[in-house]
Amino acid sequence: MAREVPTPIRAQVAALREQIRDADHRYYVLDDPSLSDSQYDEIYRELVALETAWPEVVAADSPTQRVPGVLGEGFQPFQHPSPMVSLDNVTNAEQFHDWVASGDRYLRSEDPRRYSVEPKIDGIGLELIYQDGVLVTAATRGDGLVGEDVTTNARTIRSVPQRLRGPNVPEWIAVRGECYCRKKDFFAFNRAAEEAGERTFANPRNFVGGSLRMLDSTVPASRPIRYFAYALGGVRGATYGSQGELMAALQELGLPTIPEARVLDGADAVAARYIELVEARESVPYEMDGVVIKVDDAALQERMGMRTRSPVWAVAWKFPAQRALTKLNDVDWQVGRTGVVTPRAILEPVFLAGVTVSHATLHNLDELERLQLKIGDEVEIERAGDVIPKVLRALDDQRSGDEREIQIPTTCPACATVLHRDEGKVALRCGNFACPAQIKRHLAHFAGRGALDVRGLGEKQIEQLLREGLVQDAADLFYLEEDALAALDRWGVKSAQNVLAQLEAARTRPLDRFLVGLGIREVGERGGKILARAFGTLAGVQAATKEELLELDEVGEAMADSVLDWFSEPRNQAMLERMRAAGVAPAEVAVAAGGAFEGLTLVLTGKLEELSRDEAKRLVEAQGGRAASSISKRTDLLVAGPGAGSKLKKAEELGIEVVDEAEFLRRAGRV
Ligand code: IVH
Repeated sequence: MAREVPTPIRAQVAALREQIRDADHRYYVLDDPSLSDSQYDEIYRELVALETAWPEVVAADSPTQRVPGVLGEGFQPFQHPSPMVSLDNVTNAEQFHDWVASGDRYLRSEDPRRYSVEPKIDGIGLELIYQDGVLVTAATRGDGLVGEDVTTNARTIRSVPQRLRGPNVPEWIAVRGECYCRKKDFFAFNRAAEEAGERTFANPRNFVGGSLRMLDSTVPASRPIRYFAYALGGVRGATYGSQGELMAALQELGLPTIPEARVLDGADAVAARYIELVEARESVPYEMDGVVIKVDDAALQERMGMRTRSPVWAVAWKFPAQRALTKLNDVDWQVGRTGVVTPRAILEPVFLAGVTVSHATLHNLDELERLQLKIGDEVEIERAGDVIPKVLRALDDQRSGDEREIQIPTTCPACATVLHRDEGKVALRCGNFACPAQIKRHLAHFAGRGALDVRGLGEKQIEQLLREGLVQDAADLFYLEEDALAALDRWGVKSAQNVLAQLEAARTRPLDRFLVGLGIREVGERGGKILARAFGTLAGVQAATKEELLELDEVGEAMADSVLDWFSEPRNQAMLERMRAAGVAPAEVAVAAGGAFEGLTLVLTGKLEELSRDEAKRLVEAQGGRAASSISKRTDLLVAGPGAGSKLKKAEELGIEVVDEAEFLRRAGRV
């Protein structure tokens, strides 16, 4: 029988929780700490002690329950209460004023031209659902209709309240916003990771995205991830008359909102604020990649309505790509996993868009020719969002005469084999299959995230294994032994065991990922999927004839030849044989059982209104079907939107069933 918890204990527990929530709110939301760390810890420990002594009082929304857990089976899909739309972009003042003018049509002359102007946070969108003030679900955007339930991870984010505050808590509310990481927290994290020899991230956005999608939430719990709320997905028991009012209400509920957001009158004030934010870009603590402008008035938003995937009443005004001047100190040549040798600019380090840039891509020989660079040149470089910085031009009027010509290598920088250029191609290539640089890249690709995903085997570790003679090709990875690994510099027993456990799991990765890992030319992520789905097993792919390959939609001559070449190479056959002997058995592809399109081949054509092409394809695959690009006898269903042409005609000729997008969505269980 449950004990009766004495009232004073209940009261004390409630008071401690309130103090902790308040301190969290002051620290993470208002950025204005009220307690010292040791004061906070003391209160927290007191609460833990009471909850341990009186487990009857533990509640899901207690601050002590921000405890990470481990999810067994990936994430559950979560259907958003209303679509999580994206935003249309404008890139300059003229386009912005066009957007304003198109919106003016909805206005009467006495209506205020009032806008909410907010930084566009470069993070990961997250929806939070509160039932009676208690956080019940957190979900990522996914395809906008269905996201992933990441509640366990989101609970570890301290600026996400577990429970809403104040007198005006609505009965039910879906709040939308962005998970992000402050720039300085991100740099500190990367620095520490680098020192510890652990994985670093390219930018705060990847860092946040990767963390949110981890199955073991002890990891995100230890990472400096924060949240800003900026939109509503739905509400019951409250109404908000404008975006400004919504932001004030969310703040009152204890949710963090963007401090730099402003409600302004008139397009000119908006344009002026845009410039201010461009100028503030470096100094704000988080990364923003533009400005979001929303018509403030909710009734007006309603009147303006939605396009297919974005509201008419809001727009994103992107920031310009960031540029800087620096010096080209040298050019080095890198050998990729397929032997292509590419030039890379070595730059005088320069701070640009939140990171220190010391390298930039020069793509290929044509690009080098076009840029007419010389070593020692002053160059302008650009970095846009995620992409690798690139060299835009040389300031050739700044030359002193001491600049040197760039030497195009005639032999491989790694193995000295004479390089050749493929007929009609811009790539310079090393044809030595034993080239150490190629092998290193190839193994890193094989063990990399797109393929077998062997954690703890990065390029550095692989280089070490190659140098020590422990591996020569991918098959050797499956013959590694603990003692040999543990004896390596900076490894030890624990790392050795970890990597061996990872390799054990890698033996049965899905076939498509294994195929990607082999590094067959022309076979990327999509190609791997097509082959895996068509042939089911590695032996099946290996036995495929050219006719069988060409019969697959989306497989052309180049891919078919490349697959045949790869599997007919005795060296590759021997490697696969050694992998098999070591227990490598890529998991056969299971077609989603019971999916609406199980075993069917669908083709999409014409304009789709609700879904993008990629979303529709993913939906087909998620329902067990195959999305092909052309109509053939083997097509089972054609989804035709407005503007469908020759495919529709051909389908009708062949007597193939044709449906519109609405019917497609209905069959997929979407409406
Ligand atoms: S509002 C109806 N506000 O940008 C409006 N979005 O392309 C829906 N984002 O996926 C979005 N900062 O993840 C809004 N202040 C802000 C934002 C913001 C970043 C992201 C959001 C969305 C994407 C839109």
